[in-house]
Amino acid sequence: MRLYNIDHVGLAVFDLDAALADYERLYGIRPIYRETVVSQDVEEAMLPLGGSFVQLLQPLSSDGPVARFLERHGEGMHHLAFAVDDIEKALQELASEGARLIDSEPRPGGRSSRIAFVHPKTLSGTLVELVELSDDH
Ligand code: CO
Repeated sequence: MRLYNIDHVGLAVFDLDAALADYERLYGIRPIYRETVVSQDVEEAMLPLGGSFVQLLQPLSSDGPVARFLERHGEGMHHLAFAVDDIEKALQELASEGARLIDSEPRPGGRSSRIAFVHPKTLSGTLVELVELSDDH
């Protein structure tokens, strides 16, 4: 597989509007995407920085994965997302290396992407998201 970018760093927040206001006030960056991603039970905003994004995630309900993360750990870094050119191939290669896949098949992500998560036990405690972007993003 070929990783060609850190697509984004995903951060869990309790209050997306408050977090966006802090990013703009302190660092002068504003989101270029904001959307609800039902498959992840979150509202997300993407703040562009160089060729990558800071992704802010606010849970939509109290029982999704980001809500459970916030309950356990509080706000902060949730996952690291690598851009890949072929997500099925990447998942196959990871599985053949014994990686513990949270998603064995890609699911829809923001920006019309396809995404899949790899368990943090596979990589020094870091939850990894693979992202295959659609052609128009
Ligand atoms: Co993400």
